[in-house]
Amino acid sequence: MSEPTPITPEGVEQAVSEALAAVAEAATVSELKQARSAHAGEGSPLARFNQGLRSVPNDQKAALGKLVGQARGRVNAAIADREAELAVAEEAARLAAEALDVTAVPSRARVGSRHPLSILMERMGDIFIGMGWEIGEGPEVENEWFNFDALNMDADHPARSDQDTFYLAPEERHLLLRTQTSPVQIRSLLGRELPVYVVSPGKTFRKDELDATHLPVFHQIEGIAIDRGLTMAHLRGTLEHLARAMFGAGAQIRLRPNYFPFTEPSAEMDVWQPNAKGGARWVEWGGCGMVNPNVLRAAGVDPDEYQGFAFGLGIERTLQFRNDLNDMRDFAEGDIRFSQQFGMVI
Ligand code: DAH
Repeated sequence: MSEPTPITPEGVEQAVSEALAAVAEAATVSELKQARSAHAGEGSPLARFNQGLRSVPNDQKAALGKLVGQARGRVNAAIADREAELAVAEEAARLAAEALDVTAVPSRARVGSRHPLSILMERMGDIFIGMGWEIGEGPEVENEWFNFDALNMDADHPARSDQDTFYLAPEERHLLLRTQTSPVQIRSLLGRELPVYVVSPGKTFRKDELDATHLPVFHQIEGIAIDRGLTMAHLRGTLEHLARAMFGAGAQIRLRPNYFPFTEPSAEMDVWQPNAKGGARWVEWGGCGMVNPNVLRAAGVDPDEYQGFAFGLGIERTLQFRNDLNDMRDFAEGDIRFSQQFGMVI
């Protein structure tokens, strides 16, 4: 234990002012701890004055005791005040450091989106899967026989001209970019046991100029159902179900007589779109009919035993009607902003 220091008012006052200065200077809780042990702890000047009280003459004890006691009281009070101040400041600093700006705009990685035509083809396929159909596929580079001959299209059918169709060299291989998804009808029949219920969405190609209403590369969905006893009523019911799934419960279809080489009878199908933007309307949606017996024969099916229906419609048109889109070029230009408007749903 250190020597008691003789107690004088000046000595005590100096110890107090040094202590108060050290306390005021302490900028952190740990600096304050050091100041406390140096100026109020064991061995500090004030502690030594306190010990010195034991050896002062009795007649001075009360006065000096009061002097030292008050001095220690002032220093302890200053420490307590500073401690509270620093605690508040440190808490404030910690909160500031941890603060989150809930209004900040997040810097997210840009998320892409699928093309609305792809999403729509998948949705249409799903509608048929829901009715127990299968999804079929065929190549985009197709054999002329599948694209035309097997579909009962004569050698001089105008669609076969090379003004309309992209043929691939060399000519004797008879390859082309399919002009319709209808060749998948034949492939579906050749590749499966009967009965057959197949839809096939996909790309098709024609020598059209790119403008607001034509694309040289576009998309169709083809359907073929071959079974015993299928009639046009089944065709109607199937297409009406599709129309309602696409355009709402109030949608209807109507069939107008038409001609296609691969169906007999054939019809043009219109859909009544109850929720169209400019008001309810009929729009031309696709072609359909009862599969021509010649097509069944080309695929090795006996038309006396099995019959069925087929249909084909444009995916671009469907998207246009559903989403009130006017310019088909938007589908093809590949501007990501076009796709992003649809997000992942259409
Ligand atoms: N393939 C025809 C076209 O591209 C559409 C079509 C019409 C498909 C009648 C069919 C059908 O399956 O039965 O214009």
